Amino acid sequence: MLRVGYPAVIAAELLRDFPQGIELIPLPDQLDHDIDIDVWIPDPYPARAIQIVPRLRGLRLVLSLMAGTEWIPGAVGPHVTICNAHGAHNISTAEWTVSAILAMLKHFPFYLDVQRSGQWKRRFEASANYAAITGDARPLYPPVMLEELTGKTVLMVGYGGIGKQIERMLAPFNVELLRVARSVRANPQVHAVSELDSLLPRAQVVVLILPLTADSHGLIGSRQIALMPQGALLVNAARGPIVDTNALVEALNQGRIRAALDVTDPEPLPEEHPLWRCPNLLLTPHVAGSSPQFAPRSLSTAAGELRRYIDGQPLENAVQLAL
Ligand SMILES: NC(=O)c1ccc[n+]([C@@H]2O[C@H](COP(=O)([O-])OP(=O)(O)OC[C@H]3O[C@@H](n4cnc5c(N)ncnc54)[C@H](OP(=O)(O)O)[C@@H]3O)[C@@H](O)[C@H]2O)c1
Repeated sequence: MLRVGYPAVIAAELLRDFPQGIELIPLPDQLDHDIDIDVWIPDPYPARAIQIVPRLRGLRLVLSLMAGTEWIPGAVGPHVTICNAHGAHNISTAEWTVSAILAMLKHFPFYLDVQRSGQWKRRFEASANYAAITGDARPLYPPVMLEELTGKTVLMVGYGGIGKQIERMLAPFNVELLRVARSVRANPQVHAVSELDSLLPRAQVVVLILPLTADSHGLIGSRQIALMPQGALLVNAARGPIVDTNALVEALNQGRIRAALDVTDPEPLPEEHPLWRCPNLLLTPHVAGSSPQFAPRSLSTAAGELRRYIDGQPLENAVQLAL
């Protein structure tokens, strides 16, 4: 009988979709003895999961509940097949992205500050903030206190599972969407990443939703930021090192662009890091993929993959096939 180890912190009722005829074994964070496991569902936090790896014997398949599996090949070796939970984060991360765009264009971080100060009259500061960050010097009356997303040009760098969800959620806003991926294609039009610099000047919002790789490391540096229009919004829901942090801090402090970040470089962001104090910035501590729906969704993905493994069908989310 196939022995499937899973983190004991996960409620057993969430494993009800798992195939019949397997033995489900709850695993603690620490093990003081070896244990025979054919299939392992690691704790989503690598620092916790990695502690029991030396105690696992006979491992053949790892079913990660996360999209990122960077630490697993080195921990379990090349003779184990590894699958990720591709897609399990799509909805929550796309919703974070759209929320962050709207929050910044509606100046919610400023209005939260106003609320905390209890000073209604401070709303008139919003017009000055708007003029300063966008460079819009028109004598607009009544005063501008919020902006609109509708009709803006959004450049999305990365057009995979999450990118397509973001596009679906942005549809009612009638934005002009420019898509960039590794490879060029049509219907819908997707530009090659080599065209990024020529597209940046057109974008009022730039969304980063691509993996961190050798090619994407530092993709957005001081040159790319300089190509963005005054006051453009850079949204990073992907990975911190895709953006050059020093260049971003400088641009934010100069009032060149705005940013919404769920991810930073480094992570965790140290308390004294200058990014915390930058103006025109909304920062969340790498939480975009989280929601109550995540665990059921990623376990359902794992159950499907386990069923295919047992039936000898091709795996859908393999990131490493056993040698
Ligand atoms: N903040 C969070 O909590 C959170 C949660 C989940 C995921 N993420 C991040 O989001 C990333 C994207 O997730 P996903 O599920 O949408 O990935 P995906 O389905 O694999 O799609 C990745 C997209 O990025 C493109 N891409 C890859 N390398 C590129 C490069 N160097 N330049 C330009 N485009 C490139 C791919 O291009 P092609 O289409 O041409 O292959 C593809 O369109 C993940 O890798 C992860 O880092 C963050």
